[in-house]
Amino acid sequence: MYAAFRSVGSYVPKNVLTNEDLEKIVDTSDEWITKRTGIKTRYIADKEESTSDLGVEAAKVALKRASLRAEDINMIICATISPDYFCMPSTACMIAKKLGVSNIPAFDISAACSGFIYALAMARSFIESNMSKNILIIGAEKLSAIVDYSDRTTCVLFGDGAGAAVIGATKNKEEAIVDINISSDGNYYDYLITPGCGSNKPCSEETLEEHACFMKMKGNETFKVAVKTLTNDVIEILEKNGIESEKIDHFIPHQANYRILNAVAQALKLKESQVVITVSKYGNTSSASIPMAMNDLYEEGKLKVGDLMLLDAFGGGFTWGSAIVPFSPSN
Ligand code: UT7
Repeated sequence: MYAAFRSVGSYVPKNVLTNEDLEKIVDTSDEWITKRTGIKTRYIADKEESTSDLGVEAAKVALKRASLRAEDINMIICATISPDYFCMPSTACMIAKKLGVSNIPAFDISAACSGFIYALAMARSFIESNMSKNILIIGAEKLSAIVDYSDRTTCVLFGDGAGAAVIGATKNKEEAIVDINISSDGNYYDYLITPGCGSNKPCSEETLEEHACFMKMKGNETFKVAVKTLTNDVIEILEKNGIESEKIDHFIPHQANYRILNAVAQALKLKESQVVITVSKYGNTSSASIPMAMNDLYEEGKLKVGDLMLLDAFGGGFTWGSAIVPFSPSN
């Protein structure tokens, strides 16, 4: 059995947060944000919307496009760093409940911005080992819940949203995911971190005062490692599979910063038309950014049957991953 990428869907919350809005909250400017990141807007979920609410909407779109009902799904994997609940229950269980399905495995994975590629790797393994047939993978984030809106170095970067995909079993090798690489280096654990409220530093008055339950990032240091790691990672996976970069129809990188994805695209000598960029619109939506970008491509009518996608992500941990994936909707 092989694993095929059947469909994609996404959900974007309705509230827009512009650079001009942020100018009123912290000491920043549209000029700085645009020049350093390429971001113009990001979307923010309502107070009463949680991560699973975003994820379930994306999942419904992906299911419909795969012509499947929720009951046809054998497993749900949700990648998130902003789960509905601290520790338990998992956001995947909440999504299953909201889809009206039970008695299937549903679990979250924590691989930060690389989460969607990690979820894809797991779905592929379950399918190729004949343990599952149709798997829903979701990257969903309500990052506004863990962003410190008094910290200008992070609050301008992140947004909310969700993306989902159906990965299905096939006997046709031409439809199959070609390769996936996932990796990590925990030596960089404190470059991107929510330092408080875990077992290392349980929730207390002190963690509240220190804003320790919010994301902190060593931005410039992370930037340098991200460019180098992402570039090496995509070059390696293409070489390993004997695929020239001009054969890639769509390079869909994690959308953290326009300068990062541009540097990687240039190293691969990709044409502008091959690179999918949505960071200006959505900001950094962590595990949701790749499927959200892919969804936009699909809705613009640019993602066709058999198109070869190169995915690439980097995030907290550090974690990273890449994948070569043909778009293989079922007939
Ligand atoms: O998604 C997971 C992986 N994440 C990433 O890969 C993100 C990686 N990092 C980045 O994208 C960039 O490093 C940032 C966008 C976060 C920052 O850009 P930078 O070019 O690396 O800027 P910097 O951190 O070196 O800061 C330059 C200056 C500093 O001022 P001084 O020390 O030069 O006076 C900062 O205090 O910009 C200042 N600064 C700001 N100014 C206005 C930092 N944030 C802001 C801000 N508005 N929002």
